[in-house]
Amino acid sequence: MQGFSSARQVPIALGERSYQISIGSGLLGDPAAFAAAPAGTQALVVSNTTVAPLYAEKLMRTLAGRHAQVRQLVLPDGEQYKTWESLNLIFDALLGHGADRKTVLYALGGGVVGDTTGFAAACYMRGVPFVQAPTTLLAQVDSSVGGKTAINHPLGKNMIGAFYQPLAVACDLDALKTLPPRQMSAGLAEVIKYGPIADMTFLDWIEAHIDALRACDAGALAHAVQRSCEIKAGVVGQDERESGLRAILNFGHTFGHAIEAGMGYGAWLHGEAVAAGMVMAAELSRELGLADAAFVRRLAALIQRAGLPTRGAVIDARDNAGRYLQLMRVDKKAEAGEIRFVLIDGAGRAAVRSAPDALVRQVIDRCCA
Ligand code: NAD
Ligand code: GLY
Repeated sequence: MQGFSSARQVPIALGERSYQISIGSGLLGDPAAFAAAPAGTQALVVSNTTVAPLYAEKLMRTLAGRHAQVRQLVLPDGEQYKTWESLNLIFDALLGHGADRKTVLYALGGGVVGDTTGFAAACYMRGVPFVQAPTTLLAQVDSSVGGKTAINHPLGKNMIGAFYQPLAVACDLDALKTLPPRQMSAGLAEVIKYGPIADMTFLDWIEAHIDALRACDAGALAHAVQRSCEIKAGVVGQDERESGLRAILNFGHTFGHAIEAGMGYGAWLHGEAVAAGMVMAAELSRELGLADAAFVRRLAALIQRAGLPTRGAVIDARDNAGRYLQLMRVDKKAEAGEIRFVLIDGAGRAAVRSAPDALVRQVIDRCCA
């Protein structure tokens, strides 16, 4: 059944890989939100042990009218399961069900399910269609959009993956009602990120609405998801495969990924690590004369109000800065072993630059608990 959803729509303009992000209430029950998927095909809904009991049945009922057969696969829940093993569980299910190259994969969950399922879709039979149905704030404002898919390697975050765009993204705001407060805060880190790198008016708006966002106010969430997706769509539309501009979306991630890998995947939530990483990157920007101290304080205050950490983790008590540097040299932005940081100017602009190790060490020493 083809129809028109009353949801807000944000287009991602990527030529023949263009698609719509739908944002609204009740989308998991709205066939129109999934009308981009080819009809009459098989479908596999991939979710996890937390999200499947909440939403899989609803989505599968919605998809029943569109697909010849709808099956589900439930993965273990957690960042520590963003692995080859989970990927293989998806391939096992697809091969076990005789899935062909028209089979549509649906990622129902947060960024872990979305990144893993997207990568499986990119690999299975060299590529099958997939749709993102993100159920965390973080996934709705960032990870489901733009086609980055990956699993982790013990030596580095998101190191094995592919650029592979979904056919559609359906952000059901109702799903956020069951999200634990700590996960809501983690998602707010990626919302806040868009202000310093691209839109100071949005940063002002987030500051004015941070309490409403934490309280799950429907109107505030709708605007936050829409504006975040618009900013991300604008960046991805100009630089799909991160040959330059797209790297600004990694503000806070260079330090943050070091925290995630260094502490063990799952110990810090991705959004928490990014939050502390943004303060560290802002502090490095100040050291380099790009941002002023007042802006660093402003950003840290907002991050704190969002319920997020403003100080990095101590990964190695003997040589903490050395361990950070070692982990950050594995970052995908590093070139010939030189770490490159997303730095901000406090006026809504970002740039990617290297910095002297000695200065980075000072920032790490000053910014870690
Ligand atoms: P997540 O997928 O682990 O989800 C967080 C937790 O919330 C999980 O326990 C999950 O089961 C649970 N959950 C999900 N939806 C729920 C709901 N509606 N109600 C109750 N519980 C729910 O984490 P995340 O924060 O969504 O995503 C983090 C991941 O996203 C990281 O692996 C990160 O690397 C990745 N990421 C990718 C991109 C990208 O561009 N591809 C961008 C940012 C982050
Ligand atoms: N989350 C960073 C990116 O999509 O490029």
